Amino acid sequence: MELAPSLPILRKVHFYNYLFLLLSLVVFLITYSSYLLPSSPSVTSLANLIWPNPKSPKKNKDDILPPFAIGEGEKDCNLFNGKWIWDETNRPLYSESECPYLLPQVTCQEHGRPDKDYLYWRWQPNDCLIPRFNASLMLENLRGKRMMFVGDSLNRGQFNSMVCLLHKIVPNDAKSLDKVNSLVIFTVKDYNATIEFYWAPFLLESNADSPWKHTVPNRIVRKNSIDTHGKYWKGVDILVFNTYIWWMSGRTFKILNGTFDDDNIKDIEDLPTSDAYRMGMKNLLRWINKNMDPKRNRVFFTSMSPSHAWSKEWGGDPNGSCYNETKMIEDPNYWGSDSRKSIMLVIKEEFSKSKVPITFLNITQLSMPRRDAHTSIYKERMGPLSPQEKAKPASYADCIHWCLPGLQDVWNELLYAKLFYP
Ligand SMILES: *[C@@H]1O[C@H](CO)[C@@H](O)[C@H](O)[C@H]1NC(C)=O
Ligand SMILES: *[C@@H]1O[C@H](CO)[C@@H](O)[C@H](O)[C@H]1NC(C)=O
Ligand SMILES: *[C@@H]1O[C@H](CO)[C@@H](O)[C@H](O)[C@H]1NC(C)=O
Ligand SMILES: *[C@@H]1O[C@H](CO)[C@@H](O)[C@H](O)[C@H]1NC(C)=O
Ligand SMILES: *[C@@H]1O[C@H](CO)[C@@H](O)[C@H](O)[C@H]1NC(C)=O
Ligand SMILES: *[C@@H]1O[C@H](CO)[C@@H](O)[C@H](O)[C@H]1NC(C)=O
Repeated sequence: MELAPSLPILRKVHFYNYLFLLLSLVVFLITYSSYLLPSSPSVTSLANLIWPNPKSPKKNKDDILPPFAIGEGEKDCNLFNGKWIWDETNRPLYSESECPYLLPQVTCQEHGRPDKDYLYWRWQPNDCLIPRFNASLMLENLRGKRMMFVGDSLNRGQFNSMVCLLHKIVPNDAKSLDKVNSLVIFTVKDYNATIEFYWAPFLLESNADSPWKHTVPNRIVRKNSIDTHGKYWKGVDILVFNTYIWWMSGRTFKILNGTFDDDNIKDIEDLPTSDAYRMGMKNLLRWINKNMDPKRNRVFFTSMSPSHAWSKEWGGDPNGSCYNETKMIEDPNYWGSDSRKSIMLVIKEEFSKSKVPITFLNITQLSMPRRDAHTSIYKERMGPLSPQEKAKPASYADCIHWCLPGLQDVWNELLYAKLFYP
């Protein structure tokens, strides 16, 4: 009886509670949607391509753009779905000889590569355009900042490409490249900006961490050791990680529970490779969530880089490799056995749990047809190829790394797009 009159009020209260909850959820989703869906496709508008320096199109005050964003990409466009377009006018983005920072591992023309077609391909997403790479815009926005690539030699290639894309507008006496242990640092003096590369092929501590001598017969990664290298990444504004190929030494991988300092390294566990990789990703995520601030920092992760060591996989010579390949694979859905989908799944699952958004540079499928873009035999490793190696090119061709200029410039265009127009 007593309660009866108040019931409608109670209902009203409930109703308002629900309404409030619902509204909060909507606001939360709108505000953080880009964070919750770090790998969600984002896009750039036609305007960005035609006017590559658009004014910040913030639509309303509640729209939070991630740090470094100067505009918004088009919704519903996945930059990584698209096709390769022949473009002799705008490619390559720089010439081999004009970038003094390229290593002899990637300068294919200088090392006698006879064909040039691989240089003239541009990536065209299906539903939008990629903004034109503008070096001065990038440096302007990196003023007083540090950007660091962390990972293996493939990430070093991407770092090298980035340096080549940026250095052109900087006078000789205002830039430098220095090596300090595991770090390579490109400094642009007038902008007080650095682009850096840190060698850590597993991200975690391993027995392959020496930047000079890392060919080891038996690869071992130490469990939960992210801080060993992570302490050198603290305070960096933009991090670009990769790690994949070094884990691919078999079906299982050796994980060390002790330390490498012990005289006899014991307590080694043989884990299925995807479990070992997942442990690595969990550890990386813990580091990112502890050390990176979503209001100031950006974190990128580059997906696995495909290799092309067996031409029989694309219906070629049964004993061939990427050597002598001058055209890309026509099937846009081609997927080589080297790129394990199980690992892609691990990345997807783990990254979806991150509180700090991680932008996933999903370059695997788009790079898959590019059997033509590898360094093959047109490179130096520890010195030039020997005559015996040259005589058996199919066996000695490097079908992992990429010529520069080349494919990795495209990865950086996509990184640029995601950084400034997410
Ligand atoms: C590149 O960016 C700079 C600085 O934001 C701007 O002044 C310039 O017009 C841009 N260049 C092109 C070709 O759009
Ligand atoms: C240069 O940039 C670093 C961060 O990379 C910052 O700590 C330092 O204060 C900057 N120096 C000047 C003179 O702006
Ligand atoms: C790893 O080492 C820790 C500490 O030494 C120990 O407690 C743990 O049981 C070990 N785990 C495995 C799987 O050996
Ligand atoms: C491929 O290699 C195998 C073993 O070395 C050899 O027997 C075979 O003749 C080769 N096939 C071709 C097409 O070269
Ligand atoms: C390389 O390709 C050319 C043209 O397709 C062919 O004539 C040549 O025999 C090939 N060389 C080798 C070693 O496969
Ligand atoms: C990356 O792209 C491929 C196809 O291009 C897709 O199958 C895969 O799910 C994507 N990975 C992630 C983590 O989004």
